[in-house]
Amino acid sequence: MNQIIKQLSKRKSIRQFTGESVSTEDLELIIKTAQRCPTSVNGQQISLVYTKDKKTIKEIAKLCGGQEQIATADVFITVVVDFNRTSFAVEQTGEKHLIHNSAEGILVGAVDAGIMLNAIQVSAESLGYGTTAIGAIRNEPEAIIKLLGLPSKTFPIVATTIGIPTKESNESPLKPRVPIDSFSFEDKYNDKKVKDGVLLYEKQMKEFRVDHNMDYLQSYCEQTAYFYKNVYFRKVEENYKKQGFTFTD
Ligand SMILES: Cc1cc2nc3c(=O)[nH]c(=O)nc-3n(C[C@H](O)[C@H](O)[C@H](O)COP(=O)(O)O)c2cc1C
Repeated sequence: MNQIIKQLSKRKSIRQFTGESVSTEDLELIIKTAQRCPTSVNGQQISLVYTKDKKTIKEIAKLCGGQEQIATADVFITVVVDFNRTSFAVEQTGEKHLIHNSAEGILVGAVDAGIMLNAIQVSAESLGYGTTAIGAIRNEPEAIIKLLGLPSKTFPIVATTIGIPTKESNESPLKPRVPIDSFSFEDKYNDKKVKDGVLLYEKQMKEFRVDHNMDYLQSYCEQTAYFYKNVYFRKVEENYKKQGFTFTD
C-alpha cells in the first residue's frame, strides 16, 4: 500500500488537540498545496481566511453553536466562495458577471470549496496534524461575514480546524461506513442495495457504540433524522442573498 492510500484509509475527524502549535512553515505549505486544487473554468473562485488568534478562534467556536473542539484548535481555516474575484476579472473585459445569480453558480462554489477543504485536510494530516471539517460556519453567517470582513459576492461555506491530535484521539477507532456494495455501483445505481445497506449499517453503528462505550454517539438513522428532519442552519439563504447571490437560473 502506498503512503497516500495508507493515509486516506485511516483518516478520521480529530476533535481533541494538545494545544501545541501548527508551525508557520507547515501552515504555509498546507495553504500553498491547497492552491493547486482544480477549480471550475480555472475561475479560482475560492479564497481562504485562516486565523491563529485564539480569541478569534474562540469567537468563531461560539458562532458555530459552541463547538468546544473548535475553541481548542490551533488554526481555523474558513473556505470562502469568492465570486468577488471573478466578478472583478469579468469587469476587466467590459462584461457583467452573472453566474452568482444562478443555481449553477451556487454549485460551482460548493464543489470547488469541497475540493479545497479536502486538500487542506489531506495536506495537514500528511504532516501529522488532525482536522475536522466545520459546516457549522454556516450557523451564523452574518456574524462570520462581519468577523472575517467578507465583501459582497463571497460566502463562508465550510471550514476546518487544524491542531495536534491528542494520543487518545489518534488511537480512537475509525467510524464505520455503509457497506461498500451499497455505496459504489458498476454502471447503474441500485436502490435496493442502498436501502439494505442502510439497515445493515444501522445495526453496525449500534454495535460500534456498545463496543467502544460511546453512549453519546447516535446511530446512523438517529443522527441523520436529528439533522435532516429540519433545515438545521436557518440563516443560509437569507445571508447568501444579502451577499448578492440569488438562486434563480
Ligand atoms: C462538510 C462537512 C461539515 C462538517 N461539519 C462538522 C461540524 O460542524 N462539526 C463537527 O464536529 N463535525 C463536522 N463534520 C465532520 C463529520 O461529522 C464527520 O466527517 C463524520 O461524522 C464522519 O466521521 P469521521 O470523519 O471521523 O470518519 C463535517 C464534515 C463535513 C464533510
